[in-house]
Amino acid sequence: MIGVYDSGLGGLLELNKIKLDNPHTDILYLGDQDHAPYGNKTKAEIRQIFDQNLTFFHKYQVRQIILACNTLCSTIDFENYPNYNLFDLIKATAAGIDLPLNAGILVFATQSTINAGRYEQELAQKGYQNVKGVALPRLAEMIERFAEKEEIENYLFSLFRKIDYQPDAVILGCTHYPIVKDLFASYFQVPLYDSTDLDFRIAKSQEVGKIFIAMHNNEPIRRFIRRYVKEEVEFIAYEQESSFGIR
Ligand code: DGL
Repeated sequence: MIGVYDSGLGGLLELNKIKLDNPHTDILYLGDQDHAPYGNKTKAEIRQIFDQNLTFFHKYQVRQIILACNTLCSTIDFENYPNYNLFDLIKATAAGIDLPLNAGILVFATQSTINAGRYEQELAQKGYQNVKGVALPRLAEMIERFAEKEEIENYLFSLFRKIDYQPDAVILGCTHYPIVKDLFASYFQVPLYDSTDLDFRIAKSQEVGKIFIAMHNNEPIRRFIRRYVKEEVEFIAYEQESSFGIR
């Protein structure tokens, strides 16, 4: 079984592709909605939540985890977890950018992802120097509570109007943002990159290929899953082990 982990809804958009890339593997999705949004928390808080949630995966003997959360990928030290195979979504997203090296790239992400500057670093390694990060501190929270489109559009467009930069491409550096991709597309009208179509092949297994979901089980969430996840899913209880820091 492999794990897929986000703070809530965002990572569900990756699930279809993950299933396609790992068809004979059971998948355990954790949407940690009790702690969402992650993006405005401190590094120490996010790291503590991550360690706590590893105990949940540990309980199911899950050691390969796709971190479908840019905020997590920006915050944890991957080398601190030698016993886990952690898929780094930021590295993979940056690897997929194929633009002329002088392209102006605008990265939208949570406050904590922007503070960490990982997209800038990854892209600089590929030779891109013209990368600008902009935080959208409220967007993940709005999406998580199913805010009306109009509220989200007002928030985004008033922020976009303040950006004094004409990008050649935009990266949606938070897995929640593709849920409102149409708003980004209508404003910027340049190529948009996100993490919904990465190569997620990490597992070699002959399991049944079921999807288990640990998150709030209510009608809006079930409706969201029916819309974005084309496979059958099964809800399971989300309980953390009491011990911290299993690595
Ligand atoms: N979806 C997550 C990300 O990619 C986190 C959003 C949040 O919880 O703030 O960054």
